[in-house]
Amino acid sequence: MIIIRYKRVASTNDTAKMLANRGAREWTVVVAEVQTRGRGRSGRKWQSHKGGLWFSVILRPKISPGSVAMLQFFASNSTRKAIMEETGIEAGTKWPNDIIFEKRKMAGLLVESKSEGNQVSFVIVGIGLNVNQSQSTLPEGATSVYEAGREKYNVEQLMNRIVENMQHDYSILETPDKILSEWWTNCIHRSKNVEIQTVGETKSGISNGIDADGSLLLEKNARTEHIMEGTLRVLNEQKASPDSMPPYPSLHAKS
Ligand code: BTN
Repeated sequence: MIIIRYKRVASTNDTAKMLANRGAREWTVVVAEVQTRGRGRSGRKWQSHKGGLWFSVILRPKISPGSVAMLQFFASNSTRKAIMEETGIEAGTKWPNDIIFEKRKMAGLLVESKSEGNQVSFVIVGIGLNVNQSQSTLPEGATSVYEAGREKYNVEQLMNRIVENMQHDYSILETPDKILSEWWTNCIHRSKNVEIQTVGETKSGISNGIDADGSLLLEKNARTEHIMEGTLRVLNEQKASPDSMPPYPSLHAKS
């Protein structure tokens, strides 16, 4: 692993891409204390103040362009495990590329790649993990490792553990089923009712699985649809108010 550290860059994914285009080796890691133009999925801005972990890993996997989507599930598994190993916090995965703790987003991944013909020349795995930020400095719906664990953590140590996990599990890319099943086992919306906002429309149904092409399997009226992109929300998770109906009235009825 070669680590290139910056105090401030626009986006570690952009710097990593530039280095990869110039021939940087696999497992070159670009990390910055602050990103001034951190990017999220679908062109969204990713808030990247000091205290968080913002880094990108250059990979050159021997896979076809159609399999690049596996990398996001692979790297999410490595990140989730690293958080657990370093802090004891058990976060979950959310489609397509989030790490969630108690319904709030703790980390997001942005996987970008370049292919020539049927060959992947490089993949950039960008990982943003909220580490030591306190709630007031985080965007709405976000949390941090500090907020979850009430302790400050070593950002570099977390990064090392994530990359070590990726290196340790790299050969698993040859068995995509293992990656998918680990991701799915820890998924926060496994078999749940969800709503997905895609470009121009909102779809709902039961989230029934994920596919090697990165899509989410959404079941509605006994039909399964592959959703390629969108923002997912878990439905029916409101806490029951004291005077609401119990879910199974017959079980509570006196005989
Ligand atoms: C998302 O949830 O939409 C993905 C967020 C990815 C953020 C990381 S931070 C390091 C790397 N550099 C970026 O500009 N983005 C990724």
